[in-house]
Amino acid sequence: MAGPGTTALRVAAMAAVGALAAACGGGSGSGAGATGSAAPALDGRGDITFVTGKDTSNNMQKLVAEWNSGHPGEQVRIVELPESADAQRQQMVQNAQVKSTAYTVLNLDVVWTPEFAANRWVVELPRDQFDLDNFLKPAVQTAEYRDKLYAVPVYSDGGLLYYRKDLLAKAGVAPPKTWDELTAACQKVKALPEAANAGCYAGQFEKYEGLTVNFDEAVHSAGGTIVDDSGKPAVDTPQAKAGLDRLVQGFKAGVIPQKAITYKEEEGRRAFQAGELVFQRQWPYQWALANKTDGSSTVAGKFDVAPLPGAAGPGVSSLGGHNFAISAFAEHKATALDFIKFFTTEQAERSNLLATSQAPTRTKLYDDPELLKQFPYLPTLKASILGAKPRPKAVRYGDVTTAIQEAAYAAISGTKDSAAALKELQTQLGGLLK
Ligand code: GLC
Repeated sequence: MAGPGTTALRVAAMAAVGALAAACGGGSGSGAGATGSAAPALDGRGDITFVTGKDTSNNMQKLVAEWNSGHPGEQVRIVELPESADAQRQQMVQNAQVKSTAYTVLNLDVVWTPEFAANRWVVELPRDQFDLDNFLKPAVQTAEYRDKLYAVPVYSDGGLLYYRKDLLAKAGVAPPKTWDELTAACQKVKALPEAANAGCYAGQFEKYEGLTVNFDEAVHSAGGTIVDDSGKPAVDTPQAKAGLDRLVQGFKAGVIPQKAITYKEEEGRRAFQAGELVFQRQWPYQWALANKTDGSSTVAGKFDVAPLPGAAGPGVSSLGGHNFAISAFAEHKATALDFIKFFTTEQAERSNLLATSQAPTRTKLYDDPELLKQFPYLPTLKASILGAKPRPKAVRYGDVTTAIQEAAYAAISGTKDSAAALKELQTQLGGLLK
């Protein structure tokens, strides 16, 4: 399933990892402290909390139980936050604003690093205690702010096009590389009696962080950008409009079913698993769950994944993922640091991939023959991550994402013309990204 350009991306990845190794002065074990990083010492040992979004696989519980059995005086208690990224962020921000000691290790979405670092809600981490040269470079960059490390990438995320390989094969169509191909392929599939009622395509279109992701992807996949190279917003462009219009038209023409406007990741997953969708934009975690043979999925073994489609060729993913950081207000930071190390060993990442199909952040696992046998899409996923575009890096990220969500939602729900929505968004982002 290696997508076009995978070899080139792999070469780029190797070069990137090499560059990182050079920048890190040789990585862990090579003269700690001699690399210029003077992160303050992290002291204190004892019980801590680990604050995370909903654990859809129960694997976090398993890893925490493993840690707890080996660390009697340093027990970790999981604090589980809601499913949506925005709701998680809100609780973590509120906790930090009152300088609460209740949260120790924070499972941060990759887009929150600038906000949490600039406000000093999380502490700088000692770079030389992590072998970051063995991690995917784009993932490491999401954990940095002004050249300092504030978190460690635990799992990455790249968008994938899930498709029903059984139905496509029966209709005699190949996985689409462009939006037009997707629409044409879907028409053929829907001529099959068993697919007559299926929706063609869905992503995440509820008004929350997932919509920011899907909007960013649509814009980048149409050749546009959200911010230009100098960091200025650039959404009032024909390319950005073409990207947004593809979603607007998708809803209007019924290619995207109306109810998909209420989908976050989990609602979409349930629809895909119920056999209600031919194509779907989704993260890798769905692979394991939709392949379950315990009766929870009707599509186990019947789907595959391909690169996201774009306007004139393959599309561009928005870079997702999660990093662990330590709250500035927490006690027992030495325990917290060890816990992060425990969660990011090769062994822990392997176990997490096997249990959850989440994207590892350690490069090596993408080329592991045994893992490739079980997860044949790993090269497609690696290409998605290495070719992904980050969402805007902003200290006021909460306001930035709200502005994007409102503009995109107004357009896809038909309450605002896409050109007007983008014009307003351009003005708003101009104020926020100064
Ligand atoms: C996934 C991604 C994260 C993104 C979120 C949006 O959790 O890893 O980066 O913000 O989805 O819903």
